[in-house]
Amino acid sequence: MKSIQSIRGMNDLLPEDAALFLDLSAQIQALFESYQFEPLLLPTLEKTELFARSIGDATDIVEKEMYTFTDRNEDSLTLRPEGTAGVVRACLEHGLIHNQIRKFWFIGPMFRHERPQKGRYRQFYQLDAEVFGIATPDVEAESLAMLSTLWQNLGLSKHIRLEINTIGTAEERKTYRQKLVEYLSQFKDQLDEDSQRRLNTNPLRILDSKDAQTQALLNDAPQLQDCLSEVSLKHYHDLKAYLNALNIPYFENPKLVRGLDYYCHTVFEWTTDLLGAQATVCGGGRYDGLVEQLGGRANTAFGFAMGMERLMLLVQQLNPATPKATPDVYIMTNEDNLASQLALAKRLRADGFQVAVNLGGGSNKSQFRRAEKSGAKVILEADVQDYEAILKRLNG
Ligand code: HAM
Repeated sequence: MKSIQSIRGMNDLLPEDAALFLDLSAQIQALFESYQFEPLLLPTLEKTELFARSIGDATDIVEKEMYTFTDRNEDSLTLRPEGTAGVVRACLEHGLIHNQIRKFWFIGPMFRHERPQKGRYRQFYQLDAEVFGIATPDVEAESLAMLSTLWQNLGLSKHIRLEINTIGTAEERKTYRQKLVEYLSQFKDQLDEDSQRRLNTNPLRILDSKDAQTQALLNDAPQLQDCLSEVSLKHYHDLKAYLNALNIPYFENPKLVRGLDYYCHTVFEWTTDLLGAQATVCGGGRYDGLVEQLGGRANTAFGFAMGMERLMLLVQQLNPATPKATPDVYIMTNEDNLASQLALAKRLRADGFQVAVNLGGGSNKSQFRRAEKSGAKVILEADVQDYEAILKRLNG
């Protein structure tokens, strides 16, 4: 009978990758806690409506990438394609963000029905971070500083760069959208197919079209920044001043708009040249309107998400595999003393040693072979029991 395979684009993390995943998660946790982020763990399934109302009907994610199904109660449910909508839902449901500053983080699986390739999967892990209740760009600068520390700690700084932009308020974008559509409509036939469609549904996304001819047409298009108020421009100016003061290099990319509808003011992406087409390792921005849009009282918010697989690919490329952990001691066993050898292993572990015990029996010779293969520093034969002598050998 043919064995069953995993679902395309949904990968198993085998021990070596899983070990790196957990190691990175631990480093991220320590760093984020030092910035007062609190953990928040949420369901992977949410009501479909939550994503349609937050990410936006005319986005790629909602239009064609969600895993949506009807459950046995005839409710339409969706495997979360991103984390922000669920965080806002949970915050409103449990009254977590009313009149207070809160910072949350988690790592968890997300699902998007995209065409799988290196760095792009149908199930992938995101590190997600969200901050509520801070209207000023200091929170953006501090979060970007935290991320730049993470790159530094992981030896990635030289291979990752920060792109920033401001997209102003919803009102300002409305004015700009009209101008952009007016301008691009004159050249509709020359736009790539996707952009022609987006002209009616989501014209700002045309700005980050990959098509060369579309990009050439955009060179003379009206600029979003020309539609921004003094207040919006000051927000962006202040962010840049903070980044300069913190010595965080950045590139301004006026065409960066991001693929989700909920953003306003600051948007950003950390990109790399080392991952081919899947260049964005981390992306985010401000989303002040979303809390109200999802039924809460108006609140300010900022956040970002990082693709853990992309982070792992980068780390693996730049710092090739760290050797597998080996036990300090391998304890050989025989039928008569198995119980006492297990007890010995337990004591040694309690004393902080990494211990492998021979399980499943076997001749002396085969046990010895296994012990050598494990790479253990000390091998104890089945009759060795003197605890003090063992400790001496291990510490010696
Ligand atoms: P996003 O840009 O859609 O933003 O995703 C964030 C990151 O998730 C991407 O930069 C990428 O590293 C990773 N990612 C996305 N799709 C895939 C995929 N198919 N395979 C592997 N990795 C992927 C968001 O999701 C927003 N919720 C970020 C945010 C949080 N904004 C505010 N708060």
